[in-house]
Amino acid sequence: MRAPPLDALLERELARFEGSHPRSRALAADARRSLLGGVPMHWMVRWPGGFPVFATEAAGARFLDVDGNEYVDFCLGDTGAMAGHSPAPTVRAVAEQAARGITLMVPSEDALRVADELARRFGLPLWQFALSATDANRFAVRLARAVTGRPKILVFNWCYHGTVDETVATLAEGRVVARAGNLGPPVPLEETTRVVEWNDVEALERELAHGDVACVLAEPALTNVGIVLPEPGFHTALREATRRHGALLIIDETHTFCAGPGGYTAAHGLEPDVLTIGKAIGGGIASAAYGFSEEVARRVQEAIPRDQSDVGGVGGTLAANVLSLAAMRATLGEVLTDAAFAHMLELGERFERGVQAAIDANALPWHVTRLGCRIEYLFRAETPRTGSEAAAGADELLDRLIHLYALNRGILLTPFHNMALISPATAAGDVDRHTSVFAEAAAEIAASA
Ligand SMILES: Cc1ncc(COP(=O)(O)O)c(C=O)c1O
Repeated sequence: MRAPPLDALLERELARFEGSHPRSRALAADARRSLLGGVPMHWMVRWPGGFPVFATEAAGARFLDVDGNEYVDFCLGDTGAMAGHSPAPTVRAVAEQAARGITLMVPSEDALRVADELARRFGLPLWQFALSATDANRFAVRLARAVTGRPKILVFNWCYHGTVDETVATLAEGRVVARAGNLGPPVPLEETTRVVEWNDVEALERELAHGDVACVLAEPALTNVGIVLPEPGFHTALREATRRHGALLIIDETHTFCAGPGGYTAAHGLEPDVLTIGKAIGGGIASAAYGFSEEVARRVQEAIPRDQSDVGGVGGTLAANVLSLAAMRATLGEVLTDAAFAHMLELGERFERGVQAAIDANALPWHVTRLGCRIEYLFRAETPRTGSEAAAGADELLDRLIHLYALNRGILLTPFHNMALISPATAAGDVDRHTSVFAEAAAEIAASA
């Protein structure tokens, strides 16, 4: 019997999804009355079944939907729940703090303890807090412009740092333009941003030489267009060039925290001027932080006029609220510990081995990449060197098929690419379940190709 072609496999999986998610389907239809596009956040329209599954509850590495389906969650709120869903110490601290006040505009002692812990992990001595990684990046970028007196920032092609205006840029035949899908950019992106390809030291040098770059904002490895690792020597060159050209180096650890307790920065001895981090550090409660080197902290302090420190375009009424700080203290102190990371990294390796074995067994021209407890597979043979190469390797049909195939068998992958993340609550059996589903999909796809 001939194996069905890929689009027939997709049709089969779509029908299976519809059949096993009637309540989600009904809620999605009803949601159109009062939610724009039928979803509370517009990018939820991109889930592969045509409508999102509606969740009822989540705990540890799993969640349930309204139809009673159970999932092993490797998306983990795209890192917001990397600590696992509702970890007990965070829940306890949040409940206790919520009963004693949620937001005050004065600090609690937790602020000191969290800053001390961030300093210990990431090596930067002075910290401020925000409620999202986007805001931490936005504030860091503004402060970099303020202290250097320079107008532009430099980012890497296909980066993602949240909804920071200056970063939603790309290269088109060497020119900086708004990235496709960038809604209503306030000014042309070439006025605010320089863009170079990841791992391209020559381009980096060339763009920094203009002398107008306040800061380079970089993830230590690209994680939002698949994982694109730095080549040996790239970080040394980046640090050396930014110093020589007087640009600050802002390292965004929001996703690369998956590399270890002190993120990629501690694992690889990076020396950023500013470090930003959000998502996981509050166990899912809105939290983010940005830290400064001693020298940059001094320059920032000098730049902030005390009497106008509330109108400088940096901050937020609810930022550094006592609930968020209680969540960060408990999550960092008791959940995302060194021991938890050891477990997560081990399972990351197990996940990678399982995927590689299935790729090999079916002789598929695919590859798998891992950064700590974050794993990504891409449907091309070569490992990409740049964001552009990774983006060119995306395969819409295969992406959709694999996500749906997994979803139909109780596994949630991160949307928009094929990424999986391990939490302290993830078990070896969860990883093996993914491996067997992935192997089943790989065999069917190989047969149909
Ligand atoms: C590296 C990185 N930085 C910042 C952000 C923004 O995070 P948030 O949407 O929570 O503000 C993201 C989101 O995916 C990210 O991947």
